[in-house]
Amino acid sequence: MNIEQWDEHKLITSAMSDMIADMDNSSQMKKMVTHVCNSGGKKIRPIILMLSSEICGGDSKKSVDAALAIELIHSASLIHDDLLDGGVIRRGLPSAHEKFGHAAAMLCGDFLISKSIELISPFGTNAVRDFGRAGMYMAEGETIDVKSVTGTFEESNYYECIRKKTASLFAASASIGAYIGGADDEVANKCRLYGEHVGTAYQIVDDLLEYLNAQDDKKSTHESVTLPQIYLKQMSHEDAVNKSIKEVKKQVMYASDILRTFDACDATGKLSQITNHITTDMLP
Ligand code: FPP
Ligand code: MG
Repeated sequence: MNIEQWDEHKLITSAMSDMIADMDNSSQMKKMVTHVCNSGGKKIRPIILMLSSEICGGDSKKSVDAALAIELIHSASLIHDDLLDGGVIRRGLPSAHEKFGHAAAMLCGDFLISKSIELISPFGTNAVRDFGRAGMYMAEGETIDVKSVTGTFEESNYYECIRKKTASLFAASASIGAYIGGADDEVANKCRLYGEHVGTAYQIVDDLLEYLNAQDDKKSTHESVTLPQIYLKQMSHEDAVNKSIKEVKKQVMYASDILRTFDACDATGKLSQITNHITTDMLP
């Protein structure tokens, strides 16, 4: 999947550069935002937003600011997550707090959240509501994550945690895109569910790679409880890994089933590539 060559990727990258160019050159905030925004990242969530708008009849050029809002709140959540779980390397570079200090990193997160609100605000009540709800879910999910290492943490707690901290933003990306494309609540809910399944699969894969020590572009001091670790209490390492992979495939299948209910087009093809790439293609 050559996502960097997609028009949607170019649109979001260019909007991000324009945003940075507009900032005061002498400000410390500009240095931090540049560091965070130029550290790469696949831009999966904003691209899901633009493609969801396309499958609902919209033009992705009209949803770029909403897509940028999604990428910025995602970046803010990673800065805050790194502060919380002692993340020192993010996307192969020092995390924001490693490079600029805790206070500055926290404020950079605050700046990005506020900028994202400014960007999403013209997109109407449904989009703004889903955006706000995603932020609340992410914070709630992260609270469950932080507590996960101190008490009992079963499979159901794990799923609640990742549905809120990760899948909620994928879900909102898809539903907001749908609304911008002109969808009614029924179709937007279908897109939301697609995003939720993709986001759930994505986080299980991310956790599985962490469990297998197969990630070299990020490093945290405190690690969260992963799905294979929960399964490991009742089965062998190999079975725990295989059972986790089976769960990923189940989520991917649910997401693909939803995609098939839309008329096939370039955008459904790209969403299907994303679904398979960030989940099954990334599996060991
Ligand atoms: C990564 O988890 C973290 C998240 C997906 C969500 C983080 C959310 C918050 C800190 C709440 C902030 C809320 C807003 C609205 C900004 P991970 O540690 O498992 O993943 P990693 O390996 O990439 O660090
Ligand atoms: Mg982390």
